Amino acid sequence: MSQKQSALGPKPHESAHKHVAGAADYLDDINEPAGTLHAYIGLSTIAAGTIEGVDFTDVLAHPDVLGVLTATDIPGENDVSPTALHDDPIFADKEVQFLGQPVFAVIATHRDAARRAAKKAKISYQEKPALIDIRAAEKAGGKFVTPSLTLKNGDVKAAMEKAPMRLKGEMEIGGQDHFYLEGHIAMAIPGEDDTVKVISSTQHPSEVQHMVAHALGTHQHAVNVEVRRMGGGFGGKETQGALFACVAAIAAKKYKRAVKIRPDRDDDMVMTGKRHDFLATYEVGFDESGKIHALDADFAARCGFSADLSGPVTDRALFHADNCYFFENVELRSRPLKTNTVSNTAFRGFGGPQGMIGGERVIEEIAYQLGKDPLEVRRANFYGPNTGNTTPYHQIVDDNIITKVVDELEESADYQARRQKVLDFNKSHKNLKRGIALTPVKFGISFTATWYNQAGALVHIYKDGSILLNHGGTEMGQGLYSKVAQVLADELQVDPARVKVSATRTDKVPNTSATAASSGTDLNGMAAADAARQLKARLVRFAADKFQIEEADVKFGYEHLDCAGKQVPFEELIAAAYMERVHLSAAGFYKTPEIHWNRETGRGTPFYYYAYGAAVSEVVIDTLTGEYFVDRVDLLHDVGNSINEGIDMGQVEGGFIQGMGWLTTEELWFSDKGELKTHAPSTYKIPLASDRPRTFNTKLVTWSKNEKRTIKRSKAVGEPPFMLAISVLEALSMAVASVADYKTCPRLDAPATPERILMAVERLKGQR
Ligand code: MTE
Ligand code: HPA
Ligand code: MOS
Repeated sequence: MSQKQSALGPKPHESAHKHVAGAADYLDDINEPAGTLHAYIGLSTIAAGTIEGVDFTDVLAHPDVLGVLTATDIPGENDVSPTALHDDPIFADKEVQFLGQPVFAVIATHRDAARRAAKKAKISYQEKPALIDIRAAEKAGGKFVTPSLTLKNGDVKAAMEKAPMRLKGEMEIGGQDHFYLEGHIAMAIPGEDDTVKVISSTQHPSEVQHMVAHALGTHQHAVNVEVRRMGGGFGGKETQGALFACVAAIAAKKYKRAVKIRPDRDDDMVMTGKRHDFLATYEVGFDESGKIHALDADFAARCGFSADLSGPVTDRALFHADNCYFFENVELRSRPLKTNTVSNTAFRGFGGPQGMIGGERVIEEIAYQLGKDPLEVRRANFYGPNTGNTTPYHQIVDDNIITKVVDELEESADYQARRQKVLDFNKSHKNLKRGIALTPVKFGISFTATWYNQAGALVHIYKDGSILLNHGGTEMGQGLYSKVAQVLADELQVDPARVKVSATRTDKVPNTSATAASSGTDLNGMAAADAARQLKARLVRFAADKFQIEEADVKFGYEHLDCAGKQVPFEELIAAAYMERVHLSAAGFYKTPEIHWNRETGRGTPFYYYAYGAAVSEVVIDTLTGEYFVDRVDLLHDVGNSINEGIDMGQVEGGFIQGMGWLTTEELWFSDKGELKTHAPSTYKIPLASDRPRTFNTKLVTWSKNEKRTIKRSKAVGEPPFMLAISVLEALSMAVASVADYKTCPRLDAPATPERILMAVERLKGQR
């Protein structure tokens, strides 16, 4: 008889063949309804000031232009802020707060006409002085867009005074553009009465629904938002898609025709938020062994003109400054600064990477000061298994496996022998210098906004035995649809080919959370499993009745039901159940247990569990030009009991490479006027295939399973591997440090572009 087969395991992504064949439908591939209009947004040309006058004569002169929308054409509220602050206008009304802020939209019969006409508007401004970067904002008094957070444990002041050694420093940490392959895009199709359907490239359909309803001055039940897939989101589509959806919806209702909007890449980069750049300032007290006695640090972030997600982003930075280390006496403060730049937003890691690299810089500083391998200082500070395991936010780290992960990687990557080789190489080579670093990662899983940790799923079994799955999560390439379908097939013990995942829609599963915080599978997988359990219970009851046996004698097997020895194939079972009027549809629900967080006291258990990993990177730099290459990378990452090893490996490798881009070549450069000069791939350099490490070994931890009751005991994988790239920056740092005999921490800022490497080399040579 058919043995139990598993739907879990390394199956291809549900759309893999369509992705490579160009057959996957992205929003711009969907047939436009007849008469579809196109919108294009006009942007401000100053960073701060007031609008004195607008003249659209030349815009409206274009024969294909139907009209222009400004703030006064919005029927409801002129706002797309995800917070209660309502500080994110769709169109600037009087006040302009950054260069590139949307001021109006042109509606035309085709996209090119709208785009060209938008450049013809004449807007006069009264310009005001603008605060562009962190230092300028601090100098002007440091205004916050959202309240700052303080995390505290022990007595920092007393411990700092008593510490045998102390040092102070600062680190500039750059931002990052998401560079999703598919840019922002939305299409709105008006319906009868106040209804509208919006197709949006968004990680957060429920938020888009909410924003569109607000902007139209109607209720959420009138707005249906759909997304089948995104061509990448990376956090950039958690809130930022709402602007485009709202403009399309407002125009669609006004002109009673479908309206589509797709900005050019340059405009997308200028007008949507990015990863926050940070300035971390620290003082640390420590001893000869490298053990940290006290740490006092500020994390200032360029938030831009509005709050957006800057509150939880800067909070998450503080939550990750400890990484894997116990800070007995600690005080960490966030400084979410208001600047006249685009409002920064979620980006893979959500502030965690910036906090973590600040903490790792402190470790590096201590290591160079003491002349030790930074790995030794890391080990001296790792959270203990039973004591020394309280985080600065007072959560106990009770699932700590970092020592085992680091031991295993140190061995498999041959770290010690290779480090010795690097030291020898540097002695015998004048211009080329090598560096190697092993860095760990611990990343907290759950939304820190506790109410976000909920999900729903809707599962239909049709009469022919085929199954349609819908859940609140969105697919952005990360493989969520594949994993949740695998979970459902596994729970129902059917062939995964029976299960189709349909586009995410707000009229199928309501009040969903953003697909973010790496929690997509944890939350939606559990909700789908809940729906499966309900359906199974009904089918078991039905079979027990039908065959006049006990429910305990009915067992699910692969593709069949075992009814006291009689095998009933799944399809027969479903057809019979339908005839007996069994309800073959179920709505599942899940909320993460145990978590709680009190921001006022800075105490709680915001994370259900932690994901761990470690990386060894080896680099070579040319000290005459600053050029460098990443020679070899070894990653070891913990995904618990993997649902799909192939997809998880892709997330680990992809996350690492994206992190490497952030720390090496991706530089956001604003002029004094606040103009983003790096707004296209010609000037903004993401990693190329040729930048990948020459040797790239990635392994998943084989012995880990989640100690918490997550779906199939798996762990979230979307964001944590991003921070494995910190090893690249530290390896570069070691190579630079070699020119001054490793006596000084080079304090490389991020991104460590070739220019920065060269300047750091020259600085150290000067000191030597
Ligand atoms: N992987 C791909 N291919 N594309 C993406 O946009 N986003 C990342 C990560 N991996 C992303 C990705 C981010 S920021 C998050 S939070 C998670 O995927 C979200 O999906 P998950 O919760 O299902 O892991
Ligand atoms: N992570 C990602 N996105 C979020 C979070 C978070 O912790 N909170 C709100 N949106
Ligand atoms: Mo990811 S930054 O939580 O969308």
